[in-house]
Amino acid sequence: MTRPPVIIVNFKTFAEATGERAVSLAKLCEDVSEEHDAGIAVAPQAPDIFRVSSAVDIPVYAQHIDWIQAGSYTGHVLAECVREAGATGTLINHSERRLSLADIDSCIRAARRTGLMTVVCTNNIATTAAAAGLNPDFVAIEPPELIGSGVPVSNANPDIVKSSVEAAKRVAPDVEVLCGAGISKGEDVRAALALGTSGVLLASGVVRAKDQRSALLDLAGGVSRA
Ligand code: G3P
Repeated sequence: MTRPPVIIVNFKTFAEATGERAVSLAKLCEDVSEEHDAGIAVAPQAPDIFRVSSAVDIPVYAQHIDWIQAGSYTGHVLAECVREAGATGTLINHSERRLSLADIDSCIRAARRTGLMTVVCTNNIATTAAAAGLNPDFVAIEPPELIGSGVPVSNANPDIVKSSVEAAKRVAPDVEVLCGAGISKGEDVRAALALGTSGVLLASGVVRAKDQRSALLDLAGGVSRA
């Protein structure tokens, strides 16, 4: 995992970030990350993890793992397989891939068993506190109504971000908090950091941008580490 502040670009299942286009976008993320000393990680689809992680040195995250161990679990995603494909972390409980609390706990254990960093996505303050209690590396607050909206959560609902940070830190002081939904500009990242987060999780603002490189450069400008 990259050190905070961090920008995680979730490729979702966008055509613009599938197969060889996932590799091209990951390379762009790597270039911008190096040029601006910005901690950028990517989360491609599971079948693209190996090709992406073979092509770049920035952290590669899975979008999901299952709670299983090696064995008879056809169609499931095994943490060890994701790790061996080159991922160094995983999202868990993304809004588009919701899990029960018990399964989130088991997924965190599976990830830890394998050495994968964990980012548990949450949808409100209460679920952020519950997720923090399971001691992942990161929780990422993403109000579902703002996902894909182009309206940044750091502007539209700063209270949910600030209160999520407070709730998470009360429960587990070492858990880092990210926020996501509608983030697309450097100023959104700066606002997220000012609210106490360690970075952002985003997708469409980069993946679907007409000029992905410019979008990444703008975002990286919001991480004042250089
Ligand atoms: O995982 C990031 C995501 O759910 C936010 O999506 O398109 O609003 O950046 P987007």
